[in-house]
Amino acid sequence: MSRVGRDEAEADREERTAALLQIITTRRVVRDFSAAPVSDGDLRTVLTAARWATRGSNTNIHRLLVIRDPALIQQVRAFSPGMLGLPAAMIVICTDPELAAEAAMQLDKDSTRWIDVGTAAMNMMLAAHALGLGSCPLTSFSKSAVSLVLKLPPDVVPEFILQLGHPTLQSRSVRQGPPTRVTVDDLVFWESYGTTARMRS
Ligand SMILES: Cc1cc2nc3c(=O)[nH]c(=O)nc-3n(C[C@H](O)[C@H](O)[C@H](O)COP(=O)(O)O)c2cc1C
Repeated sequence: MSRVGRDEAEADREERTAALLQIITTRRVVRDFSAAPVSDGDLRTVLTAARWATRGSNTNIHRLLVIRDPALIQQVRAFSPGMLGLPAAMIVICTDPELAAEAAMQLDKDSTRWIDVGTAAMNMMLAAHALGLGSCPLTSFSKSAVSLVLKLPPDVVPEFILQLGHPTLQSRSVRQGPPTRVTVDDLVFWESYGTTARMRS
């Protein structure tokens, strides 16, 4: 590769990394949503992000249920102590035992079930943020009650709900508040647990 080609490749790498990190580091959960609907196009983008999430053994034992009916969202909220806002849409990540059986996966023994929920959820939250939407995980809900409200087939388990909507102006300003994350130095040990030597560049 010529020097010019190398410089362009490096500039492209830096630009893509900066854009990605900007999205990752500025995302915060949103719990105050406006009443504005989430468009089909935006939903499709968010769902596509879930589709491309990495999965254990490349199986796909989950299905995503999109809810935009305000009455259903209210009913779910009635059984969800962790649902503080009223989103315009919800994406319910469900484990489907039939799909798990097809994949010869033993749900009670395989923790990738949960990890796959997390990878899909994170991809969706980042895509939502890139679109200017707000999102918030919901895990504090009654699975049995939500299954009934959403008329899920027997044995299909609602594992996780992503609340999705347009942030209110107020929640936008809250999101710009001070970061509360641990630093990379506090988060990471090097080579042995407890060794906090600094990352070398
Ligand atoms: C597994 C998981 C479960 C969560 N459950 C809820 C919940 O039930 N209700 C809620 O309001 N937030 C929930 N959250 C959001 C966290 O409280 C939030 O991500 C955390 O405070 C960090 O805030 P940040 O994502 O804005 O950095 C959950 C987050 C995760 C990762």
